[in-house]
Amino acid sequence: DVYASGMLADDPPEHPVRYEELERRAMAAMSEEAAAYVAGGAGTEDTITENRRAFADWRIVPRVLRNVSERDLRVDLFGTELDLPILLAPLGVLSIVHEAGELAVARAAAEHDVPMVLSSASSYTMEEVAEELGETPKWFQLYWSADPDIASSFVERAEHAGYDAIVVTLDTPLLGWRERDIEQGYLPFLDGEGVANYVSDPAFRDRLDVPPEENEGTALMEFVDIFGDPSLTWDDLASLRAETDLPLIVKGVLHPDDAERAVECGADGVVVSNHGGRQVDGAIGALTALPGVVDAVGDVPVLFDSGIRSGADAVKAIALGADAVLLGRPYAYGLALDGEAGVGSVLENFRADLDLTLALAGHTSFDELDRSILLDRRPSG
Ligand code: FNR
Repeated sequence: DVYASGMLADDPPEHPVRYEELERRAMAAMSEEAAAYVAGGAGTEDTITENRRAFADWRIVPRVLRNVSERDLRVDLFGTELDLPILLAPLGVLSIVHEAGELAVARAAAEHDVPMVLSSASSYTMEEVAEELGETPKWFQLYWSADPDIASSFVERAEHAGYDAIVVTLDTPLLGWRERDIEQGYLPFLDGEGVANYVSDPAFRDRLDVPPEENEGTALMEFVDIFGDPSLTWDDLASLRAETDLPLIVKGVLHPDDAERAVECGADGVVVSNHGGRQVDGAIGALTALPGVVDAVGDVPVLFDSGIRSGADAVKAIALGADAVLLGRPYAYGLALDGEAGVGSVLENFRADLDLTLALAGHTSFDELDRSILLDRRPSG
């Protein structure tokens, strides 16, 4: 279908297909600060490199003559059937990438029926984004504020706006040492209405002496102060669990013991992630962590992000035990290039690539994938 439907020399696709080209063009389309913010990572950015390298540790061993004419890409996640094992990762402050930010992403997600995980640090309110998503599965990512009233307010608003799950990010009690941003003196949260989801929050507004409309600077400094809480411990996770009946998923787990502990505290799912290499420079590649976490949590759903760029990457992560994968930077770059249509192209291409890779590896559904389809080429030790 892909080749028959216009991807021919005389009718080339409108948007870049190769990730490198997508990134290159998107970098040029964004402001210098936004480009550095999106592409950048912690410290030397060694973990960004390692995230990609880790995929080379496992190789797909294709099988042949197995009738792959009909494929079923659906997966089941928390009782919901997804068309594809793909979700959009939470990315904050998307108004720095494109004016329509999270609204454009939500429209593309709804159009392609791909669930969206909305960041706490959204440039549009979670209620506005929920409206665009309609019936499309929507999860809310919680930055666990140092102000418990704000965390509670976010959870309540998410329930009220119809979000289907809460994803609490655990790897960001503080922002990482991001050298590109520091050199440019850039913090996107300080950029105008970048974090409207906070600024509109009643508990956030309660903290301020003057309304944010009158003193944006104070509001944004306040945001920087309270967005995370380095004093949180596992006991706090148990209390967050008690605050909502929605599925609670923890994001940013790399150690099997942490995954196990999260499940003991009542987490319904785990996202193996190193935040796209933006938090701990020198951290292990996220894919390296995946099998250990899968083994530690048994039947609890495991999702994966940090370095997914192609269908083959998703096939590898699913074969290693992930139930689904989250796309991050690739869709941000689609957004930068052409808003909703750009995100749509990234999703269409990803779906086609994933479908072909599954079929050509000799499989017709994701249920069939396990570690036996991969050759383990990890260096020992
Ligand atoms: C992120 N990420 C992120 N995670 C989160 O839980 N809340 C957030 O607000 C953000 N914001 C954010 C902004 C930008 C620009 C990036 C690149 C990333 C992390 C994100 O959800 C995901 O873990 C990574 O993007 C995965 O890495 P790759 O695949 O994008 O390299």
